[in-house]
Amino acid sequence: MTVPGFAWGGGYVTDIAYMPGYYRQQSPLHLNLACLLGGAAGLDLRPGAPLSYLELACGHGFGALALAASNPAWCVTGVDFNPAHIATARALAAEAGVANVRFFEADLATVAEDRLAAEIAPADVVTMHGLWSWVADPVRAGIVRLLAAKVRPGGLVHVSYNALPSWQGALGMQRLLREVGARAVGPSDRRVAEGFEAVRALAEAKAHHLCEPGFVRMLLDHAQTAQPAYLAHEYMNAAWRPCFHADVAAALAEAKLEWVAPVQLLESFPALTMGDEARAVLARFSDPVLRELVKDMCLTRGLRQDVFVRGVRRLTPAERDAALDEVMLALLCREAEFVWEVEAPAGQATLDRRFFGPVVSALAERPRRVGELLELPDLPRRDNPAEIVGMLVGTDQALPVLAPPVDPDGCAVALNRAAARRFVQPDNIGTSMALATSGTGSPLPCPMLDLFVAAQLAQSPVPEPDGWASRFAAGRPETEKERLRLFIERLLAERAPIWRSLGALSTSP
Ligand SMILES: C[S@@+](CC[C@H](N)C(=O)[O-])C[C@H]1O[C@@H](n2cnc3c(N)ncnc32)[C@H](O)[C@@H]1O
Repeated sequence: MTVPGFAWGGGYVTDIAYMPGYYRQQSPLHLNLACLLGGAAGLDLRPGAPLSYLELACGHGFGALALAASNPAWCVTGVDFNPAHIATARALAAEAGVANVRFFEADLATVAEDRLAAEIAPADVVTMHGLWSWVADPVRAGIVRLLAAKVRPGGLVHVSYNALPSWQGALGMQRLLREVGARAVGPSDRRVAEGFEAVRALAEAKAHHLCEPGFVRMLLDHAQTAQPAYLAHEYMNAAWRPCFHADVAAALAEAKLEWVAPVQLLESFPALTMGDEARAVLARFSDPVLRELVKDMCLTRGLRQDVFVRGVRRLTPAERDAALDEVMLALLCREAEFVWEVEAPAGQATLDRRFFGPVVSALAERPRRVGELLELPDLPRRDNPAEIVGMLVGTDQALPVLAPPVDPDGCAVALNRAAARRFVQPDNIGTSMALATSGTGSPLPCPMLDLFVAAQLAQSPVPEPDGWASRFAAGRPETEKERLRLFIERLLAERAPIWRSLGALSTSP
């Protein structure tokens, strides 16, 4: 039994829209780092240089728009089969005047053979977030045919998917959710809520397969606060099927794509990923795909993200370090807020202050190249550009940038304003979004509330935390407005200087 909806969905949820979002791992600058850490040549990224970026299943297109507005020389394309998503994406592009982006409504099962395919530019980078393990085999096959036709030699492909074996203990939970939801009445968000109600009741009754796996308990906790649209799109699709990395690699090999590296940068460091004994087993194997299976047996994360390359060019260690030296990094937090304890997959690690202290201080002044950081006085070591990039970007405390920031141009400001107007709601203040920027090529990842405040600040440089809190939390209790006002004041004091220093807000208020 499948959830009733529109026949064109092929079992995928189509009756309610997905939520907007920005995921920094989809940025070509981030994927380039993943490639370099994986020992393969990345992209030829230079300020002002052209690049063709294609996002499959772009949803409302916010990620594609933020990248396009931050990189006027890029040609950005988004594809999704939900016309409501494409209509929003096009409206935002028109409202903000983002001219270097196009959105197409197309089913990925057939687009490679469609007339439309001729309009999709050959791509240097293709990304697909939240698609592969949620769609049926014919869609996956269509994606592979499109990749075979459109990825340029040397091009990068990003794919995220629910990974096995992490999800194996949760197969029963998803099935129960979907079967209950399919028999319920109403839109998919109501159906998934009914499904969760039944799953929780059974979990409280100590059903073995809902109580034993820690992963299931983590999913149930997460679902308590997750947005209904997320839950519907995560759990209510008829063809949802988590995957082993090896099977994704085999499928994409049909498009001449070879696996190069995990996109979560910390996973490129086995010492942070696995204990000593597990690493000794890992060391028995040299085949990269087999090694990833060994790693996946140790990791508990549910979502896996990989980068594949069409025509891998392997780098020697010296070539890799030289390429990493050229990477420019920007610090995303104030120096005092830098977190030294790293939550790595293998447990907690502490960054060495003797090495990273001077590095973080220097980055707090301005973005710098990794090579420049390694020349700072008093560093105990100078041979580890991969460690700088991996630890700072992998913990989300720094961002790769193409060049120093400049004041945001009209397009970046207009997109931030238009996205805030369209997407900000009191119940999504924590949703992952971004501010379009100028100069750096990197949108600035931030929660929805930051987008709202930054957009207000760009319009009326004199802060009005009281009025903004009232507007944002209209109709909510006074205590909530007061909490929000205090939070906005903190954002103005702590985050606004970073928005200004990274090209998201003018430096002259
Ligand atoms: C979970 S959402 C992810 C959206 C976006 N990538 C993100 O992460 O915010 C999955 C998206 O895939 C799209 N989709 C599903 N099946 C598709 C198909 N056959 N062809 C094109 N798009 C599809 C849906 O409309 C939806 O926007």
